[in-house]
Amino acid sequence: MDKTVEFIEKTSGGFKPEIAIILGSGLGELADEYCDIAIPYSEIPGFIKSTVKGHKGRLVFAEIYGKKVVMMQGRNHFYEGHTMQEITYPVKVMKKLGVETFILTNAAGAVNETYKPSDLMILKDHINCMGTNPLIGPNDETLGERFPDMSEVYKKELRELAKKCAHELSIDVKEGVYLANSGPCYETPAEIHMARLFGADAVGMSTVPEAIVANYCGLRVLGISCISNAASSHNGDKLSHAEVIETTNKAKAKFKSFILKIIENL
Ligand code: HPA
Repeated sequence: MDKTVEFIEKTSGGFKPEIAIILGSGLGELADEYCDIAIPYSEIPGFIKSTVKGHKGRLVFAEIYGKKVVMMQGRNHFYEGHTMQEITYPVKVMKKLGVETFILTNAAGAVNETYKPSDLMILKDHINCMGTNPLIGPNDETLGERFPDMSEVYKKELRELAKKCAHELSIDVKEGVYLANSGPCYETPAEIHMARLFGADAVGMSTVPEAIVANYCGLRVLGISCISNAASSHNGDKLSHAEVIETTNKAKAKFKSFILKIIENL
């Protein structure tokens, strides 16, 4: 960890980020437009390379509206075969770099039948159905406690701020519960039926591990999903990663202006 932090601090010229953003599938463009310094994950000691198409795999530093922001352009997933500890390592690194606010984004399937592709959803809460937990293992007391509270992972003040930003931009933002499965397969209709009965509004394969670790570390978390498709049960079409990327591409201008407005108002 010391080696990772030292390398990033040196390579970024002592950049002290206050906000970290993980940019999900097809949502990485913000880091192309706002990029003062970029470091590929492959060069960072302790980081792993992303293996998924549509995920770039670099850390991008930029000053936006006078705020120091670090963006993860692409993330690693549990379904790639990495451990929970590996995929959440960058979150702990962000904490050590001095980040206070963590914005997690993703592409997700709609479980709520009123949601449409390209809708944006603020995460109100999550359900971890990944079958494991990133905090399993010896606990580092310098980061957080053994049995951390998870009663407000996605901070209410940040959700309210995001809703205000959406309103100012005339974006009809949703607020709902995100359920994470391990993937990599999409869900069966029966699984989506179950997710609906559980109270989920959207389903995906990421975000929950990072949100758990960020909350554990005392970071303020905001989560935003870009609804990329109807999850498997409520239309007869087959799902593909291409469709997910295509929809996030269509929604990316809206998504970008939303994130920028949030940064401006943080
Ligand atoms: N299911 C799981 N993950 C996803 C989906 C989905 O329908 N869409 C985008 N990521």
